[in-house]
Amino acid sequence: MQTLYSPSITVMGSGYVGLVTGLCFAEKGFNVTCIDTDFHKIDLINRKNSPFFEEGVTELIDKHLNKRFFATTELHHSILMSDITFIAVGTPFDGEKIDLSYIKQACSDVASVIKNKNTYHLIAIKSTVIPGTTDDVIRPIIERQSQKKVGQDFGLCSNPEFLREGQAIHDCLHPDRIVVGGTDEKSIDLLCSIYRPFAQTHMIKTNNKTAEFIKYASNSFFATLISFANQIANICSSVNNVDVMDVIRGVLLDKRLSISTEKGLVQPEFTHYVKPGCGFGGGCFPKDIRALVSYAREKQVSTDLLDGVLRINDLQPLRMIADLKKFYPELNGIKIGILGLAFKPDTDDVRCSPTLIALKALASENASLYVYDPIVRTLHDFHDSQIRYVENLESLIDAVEVILIFTAWNEFKKLPDILKHKNKKPLVIDGRRMLDKKDIGRYHGIGIGPALHESHESVLLR
Ligand code: UDX
Repeated sequence: MQTLYSPSITVMGSGYVGLVTGLCFAEKGFNVTCIDTDFHKIDLINRKNSPFFEEGVTELIDKHLNKRFFATTELHHSILMSDITFIAVGTPFDGEKIDLSYIKQACSDVASVIKNKNTYHLIAIKSTVIPGTTDDVIRPIIERQSQKKVGQDFGLCSNPEFLREGQAIHDCLHPDRIVVGGTDEKSIDLLCSIYRPFAQTHMIKTNNKTAEFIKYASNSFFATLISFANQIANICSSVNNVDVMDVIRGVLLDKRLSISTEKGLVQPEFTHYVKPGCGFGGGCFPKDIRALVSYAREKQVSTDLLDGVLRINDLQPLRMIADLKKFYPELNGIKIGILGLAFKPDTDDVRCSPTLIALKALASENASLYVYDPIVRTLHDFHDSQIRYVENLESLIDAVEVILIFTAWNEFKKLPDILKHKNKKPLVIDGRRMLDKKDIGRYHGIGIGPALHESHESVLLR
């Protein structure tokens, strides 16, 4: 029987993207080593724990650890023994532009190993980097440090990742497209070949800059949908007897936005982003759009639309407080329950979470804050004596007179039943429009006009 050659893989960076990518390649049969400079993170993985909350990660670590999957802080030997290195380190926004220091360091580290390697090595950039970074920043670093030539001695590809936190393993194992950028056939073909086990997937072969651009355009598109919905919501909330949910529903029933199937109308998943709320967050949208705006400005290209997307989003968590003040003009001493710290459900990620912006504003007005999130138990970087973290939904309900919902955790759907059972009637402000307004005695939601929050009616003819 012919044995198929299976390249071995190293992944630099063991965060959401790196660890998930590594585990999914192991699941597809490759030998993978994940590398990270953070000893604590590697130690956790080697004790079969995930460094973050993400469905399926612990199971895959448990399944593959020390069989096909390894985690280490040692990079020299690991990279030397591998054929392909994915770079999946962070590329934060430093306030003005993208911070490339981690990726520069990681690429320089890989280059110093491949300098002494006799065989071809492929480096694939998974981190989100602005167009031109792979060709104009990363390539010179690797060529200088390794004293080798791209396309000849080593390959360099851009291979952005599109996984969503909360569904990361599923997205990685079942990608809708694989984007492979590169400058030479050999590296593009090698990278495409390792995605062969991910059959049925659209493969886009292009140059590095286009690959990098696709990632930014994709994130900007979804973020724009959210800010669009929020702008419409904000206008609706100033109009008597209008609920934005009815308005959006009416928009999405357009046959260009709904697909007619035997089972009725189905709305494609992208339309789920046309949902009003208290704003987007996370480790990608806010930083990536800022980085793209800053890149465009350097090129003297106007970014009016994306500026608006960000501006709407920055203010959106504060809409919750503005709405609250319609009922409680003075917040000093008001006992307010905050539901949700994570930027979205099914993750423990609080990066750029809308809750953080609202918490700061509420604390500055001396409100008494009771916070509950099913997974995030406390905020390590945010200390305020007014914040009490409670253990469960029931304790929060017992303590407060107002509840603000910031994250659409499934568990919060139990709120109406618990309130009924306890015969409690706090004002509930739904920042995710996840509850049916008829189920809550005193309900208000983002995008509800002044008179409607009293009548609780829907005005859309059905
Ligand atoms: C995003 C992109 O979707 C992903 O392709 C890219 O690789 C990284 O950035 P992520 O930040 O994990 O992924 O989450 P996503 O589920 O897209 O959520 C981003 C924001 O959109 C969140 O604030 C979330 O609340 C909001 N969202 C998400 C919606 O409004 N509707 C949805 O259906 C899903």
